[in-house]
Amino acid sequence: MKKLRVALVGCGRISTMHLKSTKMLNGLCELVAVCDNKTLRAQDAALEYGVSAYTDHITMLDEAKPDVLHICLPHYLHTRVASDAFKRGIHVLCEKPMDIDYESAVKAVEEADKQGVLYGVVSQCRYNNAARFVKAAIESGRLGKVVSAASFLTWSRSDEYYSMSDWKGTWDKEGGGVVIDQAIHSIDLVNWMINDEIESISCHMANRGHDIVKVEDTAEGFITYKGGARYGFYCMNNYGCDLPIEIKLLCERGRVSMGYDDAYIDYFDGTHEEAHMEAAAAEINYGGGKDYWGIRHVNQIEQFYRACLGEEPLEISGREALKTHRLIISLYEAGGFRKG
Ligand SMILES: NC(=O)c1ccc[n+]([C@@H]2O[C@H](COP(=O)([O-])OP(=O)(O)OC[C@H]3O[C@@H](n4cnc5c(N)ncnc54)[C@H](O)[C@@H]3O)[C@@H](O)[C@H]2O)c1
Repeated sequence: MKKLRVALVGCGRISTMHLKSTKMLNGLCELVAVCDNKTLRAQDAALEYGVSAYTDHITMLDEAKPDVLHICLPHYLHTRVASDAFKRGIHVLCEKPMDIDYESAVKAVEEADKQGVLYGVVSQCRYNNAARFVKAAIESGRLGKVVSAASFLTWSRSDEYYSMSDWKGTWDKEGGGVVIDQAIHSIDLVNWMINDEIESISCHMANRGHDIVKVEDTAEGFITYKGGARYGFYCMNNYGCDLPIEIKLLCERGRVSMGYDDAYIDYFDGTHEEAHMEAAAAEINYGGGKDYWGIRHVNQIEQFYRACLGEEPLEISGREALKTHRLIISLYEAGGFRKG
């Protein structure tokens, strides 16, 4: 069977989840090259995985000629680097968010279509057992549509965390703070569960506890959907530790409470169902990767590779990811805090 030739650009914190996944999926792919503009980072990753190191992604694409490029770069570089790959007929799996604006993301989706390549965007929490279980209950009609939703994210990103990065906490490179970087996962899960067109958005954002960055560290918002669903969220990254996200759903035929990879459904007919992380998933180990992010990169990457190999349709395509991306960017517009 053909194995995909895989390359990765951006050998920072999240790259571990991608690089380790290529090892776990070595029946489907072969990692051939890595790139980082910080030479040492590229060399360290290359040494660890026994592949070629590059400091310029164009040179890597032209010399290593991968079938797939993983993008683990600062947000503002996502679609421009994706575009360099699309032009060369290379499939792209890019970390969230799609970019720091909406227009670049739309252009990237169109370009991938035009070049006939696959464009996937990471949203690994959709592969949590609990999330899939609840989504299936909604789609089957057993739970019915979402009527009301609420999500809470209480994580910790200290001034020290921001001081260690040359792009996090900046409007021009990260595109925001807690909403675009951390709460995007819980907002995406709820938006995916509701799966309807948005009617209205209101949002408030503030920086309440960070001295060295100007982006928001707190936000709360309220979103209404054309079908009648209403969704309120709260997020902050000033908490003292990283708690599991919390999602509550009131559906037509029951109530849902979701934590990190736990879901509890109480149906109005008196029955109860629950789902948790399966034992096999608990064994997934990226070597110190943070589990409250979700550990499902390997599941999404496998799905992406199978789609590239023509075995199944791509699940989280750029077009699918645009739905949440549009919402995230609209929250900033409604929040009135951007560049504040
Ligand atoms: N899915 C998740 O749960 C999750 C978790 C953390 C981060 N992320 C995402 O992963 C991406 C990277 O985040 P991170 O925390 O790993 O950041 P990071 O700063 O640790 O890593 C980014 C890397 O890109 C390199 N880089 C910057 N410009 C470059 C260029 N022009 N060419 C080559 N390399 C370049 C940097 O040197 C750095 O090593 C972001 O999009 C972030 O939102 C996703």
